[in-house]
Amino acid sequence: MRASITAVGHYIPEKILTNKDLERIVDTSDEWIRTRTGIRERRILDADKGTSYMAVAAAKMVLRQKNISAAEIDLIIVATTTPDMTVPPTAAFVQKELKAVNCWGFDLNGACSGFLFALATGAQFIESGRHRKVLVIGADKMSAIVDYQDRNTCILFGDAAGAVLLEPARNEDLGIRDYILHLDGSGSEYLRIAAGGSLLPTTLETVANKMHYLYQDGKTVFKFAVNGMTEVVAEILENNGLKGGDIKLFIPHQANFRIIDAVAKKVGLRPDQVMLNIEKYGNTTAATIPLAMSEAYQQRLMHTNDWIVMAAFGAGFTWGSLLLRWEMD
Ligand code: UT7
Repeated sequence: MRASITAVGHYIPEKILTNKDLERIVDTSDEWIRTRTGIRERRILDADKGTSYMAVAAAKMVLRQKNISAAEIDLIIVATTTPDMTVPPTAAFVQKELKAVNCWGFDLNGACSGFLFALATGAQFIESGRHRKVLVIGADKMSAIVDYQDRNTCILFGDAAGAVLLEPARNEDLGIRDYILHLDGSGSEYLRIAAGGSLLPTTLETVANKMHYLYQDGKTVFKFAVNGMTEVVAEILENNGLKGGDIKLFIPHQANFRIIDAVAKKVGLRPDQVMLNIEKYGNTTAATIPLAMSEAYQQRLMHTNDWIVMAAFGAGFTWGSLLLRWEMD
């Protein structure tokens, strides 16, 4: 039995932070941000709300689309780097708010690859026959961990959530067909939040040294991201006897337009095969792929039997690709 995506939803906060706004906060320019990253604006969640607020809204869109009640959900997986709290898991807040009274669930931290890791994990429970309805959510409130005095990072990130429902596929052709996932901890020094974990708990000193904020060596991550994503997309196509031309839509993690463009060119995809929305939202970490998928679905860019490839790269390093045949009309 294969696992298939049978509903997809998303949530974006109302508040918009434009490149012009950032020009007033740090030494940057709209032109630099647009040409180096492809980003024009990003969304920022209210300070008094957590990641679960967005996860719940995205999940509610999925339930409405499918016309099912939350009580039918068997499992909730929340991929996030920015949990509401360290304990309990954000999935618990989502369960409570949705009143999903017949499920279990957990958080999964796969950084920017979190949604792909969660999708592959959720699929196991459908494929085994153990569960029939798994909610997979990617949600991040990056504004909570970004230093708005650091121009290297604050221009990149935004807040959002996306969610999908996994169910048994209608037939054996449809649904998740393959995935290639990787983890390489030798990349851990290039993208991290050094303090606030068990290794270096928060102290006045760590806060004074801004160690609770996200640090990134952008240049190094960029190179690994292009190479890693190109390799896993090329490999998954080859392993499944597909060529670039067979793919209806490539839905990549949206970290930098130049990364996506380089990967697409290297694996032989035309621009019209690539889903892009980085311009509007920036990098929303675990939310980029389900958010892009939800918008692609709304724009009717995917139809039953279409081959869809996703790919991501993030802190860890984590990276991977996932191939599916789209089930919905
Ligand atoms: O999603 C998780 C994975 N993350 C990624 O995939 C991100 C990967 N990295 C990137 O997307 C890019 O490396 C960045 C967008 C972060 C940076 O772009 P870059 O082309 O690698 O720029 P750079 O870091 O090499 O900086 C080039 C110049 C530097 O000035 P000098 O040393 O040449 O004088 C920076 O100080 O641009 C400067 N710079 C800026 N200038 C204006 C860095 N940030 C800014 C800024 N505005 N916001």
